[in-house]
Amino acid sequence: MIEFFLNGQHRRLAAAPDTSVLELLRGPLAQRGTKEGCASGDCGACTVAIARPDGDGSFAYRTLNACITPAHQLQGTHLVTVDGLARGDALHPAQSSMVACHGSQCGFCTPGIVMSLFALHEQQRALPHQVLDNHRLEAALGGNLCRCTGYRPIRDAALSMGERSDTRPPWAEDPTLERAVRDLSPAVAVEDQSGYLTPTTLAELTTAMQRHPEARLVAGATDLWLEVTQRLAQFETLIDLRQVEELRQLEEVADGWWVGAAVTYREWEPLLKTHYPAFAHLLTRLGSAQIRNRATVGGNIANASPIGDTPPVLLTLDARVRLAGPDGMRELPLDAFFLDYKQTALAPGECIAAIFLPRPGDGHEQRVWKLSKRREDDISTLLGAFRWRLQEGVLQDVRVAYGGMAAIPLRVRAVEAALEGKAPDEQAFAAARRALQQSLTPMSDARGSRDYRATAAANLLERWRLTLARAELDEPTQEVTLDAYAH
Ligand SMILES: Cc1cc2nc3c(=O)[nH]c(=O)nc-3n(C[C@H](O)[C@H](O)[C@H](O)COP(=O)(O)OP(=O)(O)OC[C@H]3O[C@@H](n4cnc5c(N)ncnc54)[C@H](O)[C@@H]3O)c2cc1C
Ligand code: FES
Ligand code: FES
Repeated sequence: MIEFFLNGQHRRLAAAPDTSVLELLRGPLAQRGTKEGCASGDCGACTVAIARPDGDGSFAYRTLNACITPAHQLQGTHLVTVDGLARGDALHPAQSSMVACHGSQCGFCTPGIVMSLFALHEQQRALPHQVLDNHRLEAALGGNLCRCTGYRPIRDAALSMGERSDTRPPWAEDPTLERAVRDLSPAVAVEDQSGYLTPTTLAELTTAMQRHPEARLVAGATDLWLEVTQRLAQFETLIDLRQVEELRQLEEVADGWWVGAAVTYREWEPLLKTHYPAFAHLLTRLGSAQIRNRATVGGNIANASPIGDTPPVLLTLDARVRLAGPDGMRELPLDAFFLDYKQTALAPGECIAAIFLPRPGDGHEQRVWKLSKRREDDISTLLGAFRWRLQEGVLQDVRVAYGGMAAIPLRVRAVEAALEGKAPDEQAFAAARRALQQSLTPMSDARGSRDYRATAAANLLERWRLTLARAELDEPTQEVTLDAYAH
């Protein structure tokens, strides 16, 4: 049974483990304002918002793609859909501004866009002094595609929400709602008959995995659920990782941080912003707000895609993974985790429990460059990650890793060796490019040909050299930093 609130109304209903939120909405719940476009998390037409009590006591509304979210993850939440915003004939500002700014034509994308605007409006209400700049607008709307209206009127609608009458949805004025949601259990019983298991401790998780060796693990479901919607897979048993206490922790230790495998990108971002700004910036280009609100770093690593964004960056940081299984825990360098295309060092019955992110050393610097066809909400064609420190004019502790250049994300040790202990001059980088050519033969696919990838990967090395040359001349480096790349 799943127990939650929908637009202020209590709901309790059963669903098969592989039912999505969208199926539940458009089927038994008859909330058909929410649309299905791509069924793969890309278009945003199915965007809805949920609030769940967070560990820090907050209760914020965050967007998600209903098409790729397991219905069972609604347990203990308040789900808001486009059908729940208006108060009678009085439209919510997210709706009235779309009407006033002519932000809709065929209307198919509109319910999703309205929900992204609703979440943005809620953020503005919470922090009214926060400037609604391009960056925040893009972050709020980057997961919503519109094929006919064009984005200017939608952008205008976002900017003008604050000028509209602030009509609150009926449920927003129910003082008992938040308490009632908090009173719901966040997890159904681990041996619930539904086939959707939600262990809350690592011990329960490993036991569930032993009892159900056929079960698939699910965290944010932003990779897994594509197997349901695109390949029509059916899952009879799923084990949800998101309530497992040990997997949700972000623990600071003397030499770094243990990041629980079920920590989402949104939750991880503040730490990265402070200590690894180039990595944090990459997150702004990883999926969309809907994806980042739910997707986890553990899922990114376990999925072992050659074009996953975080593995190359983590490889340059000498990250380690902690694996949990029936015989306890073991640790290994991330470098030893990826074995071959989609094959990892995980043994049967094991999962990733946490990722260790070492504290940046003195003088360590990092650059990360992601190349993709679209800036927002697109998977990498190629990603280059570079870390180093300059000591007395020579490169030390050089780490170079790429995604999209081989069957697995990997460090290119020959390139690192060509640069280690060298001045960052043209000669050293020419040797590094030769080493890159000799080490890797990239794949060709719909995203990029082998030649494109080989050339682009070498060009990223040159970009890195130019970054260093400019720093030496004490020139501003904006044009070659990630921030500049984002515009
Ligand atoms: C629209 C869209 C855009 C995307 N954009 C990007 C992008 O820009 N860059 C990028 O890298 N990825 C992108 N992705 C892919 C996806 O969002 C990421 O890989 C994400 O980090 C997966 O995390 P998750 O929690 O959703 O994993 P899930 O889908 O829940 O799980 C993924 C796989 O890992 C397994 N798994 C999950 N957690 C664990 C664990 N702790 N231990 C063992 N196995 C585990 C699951 O069984 C499953 O096989 C995108 C996906 C979508 C739908
Ligand atoms: S239907 Fe396109 S993101 Fe869900
Ligand atoms: S209004 Fe037609 S897709 Fe956006």
